Amino acid sequence: MEKILIADDEKNICDSLKFALEDNYEVFTTQDANQVMEILYSENIDVVLLDLKIGKIDGITVLKDIKSKLRNVQVIVVTAYGSIKSSINAMKEGAFHYITKPIDMEELYLYVEKAIEYKNLNYSLTNLKKILHERYSFKEIIGKSDKLRLFLNRVEKVIDIDSTVLITGESGTGKDLIAKALHFQGNRKDENFIVVNCAAIPENLLESELFGYEKGTFTGADKKKIGKIQLANNGTLFLDEIAEMDLQLQAKILRIVEDMEVTPLGSNRPVKIDVRIVAATNKDLEAEVKGGKFREDLFYRLNVINLEVPPLRERKGDIPVLLNYFLNKYNNKLHKEVVGFSKDVIETLEKYKFPGNVRELENLVEMLVALSDNKIISKESLPERYYANIDKGYDNNDIRIRIGTNLKEIERIVILKTLEYFQGNRRMTAESLQISERNLQYKIKEYNIVK
Ligand SMILES: Nc1ncnc2c1ncn2[C@@H]1O[C@H](COP(=O)(O)OP(=O)(O)OP(=O)(O)O)[C@@H](O)[C@H]1O
Ligand SMILES: [Mg+2]
Repeated sequence: MEKILIADDEKNICDSLKFALEDNYEVFTTQDANQVMEILYSENIDVVLLDLKIGKIDGITVLKDIKSKLRNVQVIVVTAYGSIKSSINAMKEGAFHYITKPIDMEELYLYVEKAIEYKNLNYSLTNLKKILHERYSFKEIIGKSDKLRLFLNRVEKVIDIDSTVLITGESGTGKDLIAKALHFQGNRKDENFIVVNCAAIPENLLESELFGYEKGTFTGADKKKIGKIQLANNGTLFLDEIAEMDLQLQAKILRIVEDMEVTPLGSNRPVKIDVRIVAATNKDLEAEVKGGKFREDLFYRLNVINLEVPPLRERKGDIPVLLNYFLNKYNNKLHKEVVGFSKDVIETLEKYKFPGNVRELENLVEMLVALSDNKIISKESLPERYYANIDKGYDNNDIRIRIGTNLKEIERIVILKTLEYFQGNRRMTAESLQISERNLQYKIKEYNIVK
């Protein structure tokens, strides 16, 4: 049951309003303005019926107090007949509505009901926004490797500044995720986050998509269309796959970045805008510049701040946590109850190169969870390429020895490879093999290893 507080210095008004409302609501009353806040806090009140003159205290002061501390509590002010001015003041200070004395009960019911509806709606909206913001927060970026942590520190430093950001990194490293976190954690979070995927929109449509057009600009332009750049006003424009944009359009984007104004196609009136531009690409933009495919001036304008997301193979420490995170996600999604991965799965994946980065790992986990009949996913369920690539992937740190090789030969190979690994440093090699340097010296001679 919703809770209503009646604050009025006249006892009979309190009583009659209570009587009118108590069938449908839980009703509290007070004749003391100083008690209002206390009751609001202790009883978790939804709606206040507030007299605009409670004894010597001005109701507007109480209203201000309520709205500054408990924004979601809805206040209906009750005013003496004819004092329109104070009612308007009250509305300005955030009252939900006002009713005049003598009170019309039908009117009262209606406003109380509307106020509660509004409160609930407002509450779910705030909640929704909160959920949205959390969904794109740094908490969603999983990983505990030092490399990722350092990278995220860098990202956090540029969240609230308006400089243009270029996010680079291989495919599937999480560039989209970073772009969203930049927007939804920054001070533009309540404004639009507009994504333009330059690779997905056909070249000839990209310009009108970005700039918008006036009615009748070309065949088919039967009404005015606002471009994405303008839609992003006060918010963030995310230009994904920026390398795919053709040179002509790049020139126009350069002007947007420099002048912060946009002229829709077919119009001659530039519109001032305020957008933060975030661009991303998995290509090496500098190489594109050298190859004449990307404008050098635009590159420098975009690259004011460069955030390079490290590839997954350089932050292997993230693999186990990501595996668990995606395991959970797909257990839920696919209604499975896989408990975990066997140790050799994790070891194998830590040695794999992951050309498709986190996206590849996520897809792999989805597949493994979907197909698994067991509680534990074992190495046998991994597709072959996850082992086949290992030698290439982890080159120098692995030694492969065929079954059937005799022990002496194994010892020779191990010593040789360890020496190579430590670049011929005998002290470190001996330490790593847990033998004395003298013994190592002897074996090097014995096996005729020249290093
Ligand atoms: N650190 C991470 N934690 C959790 N999920 C991640 C992480 N990094 C990437 N992902 C997930 O991996 C997938 C690929 O990430 P994303 O789309 O951001 O990559 P990208 O770098 O934009 O790739 P592309 O260059 O192909 O556009 C997404 O589903 C994303 O949610
Ligand atoms: Mg992407």
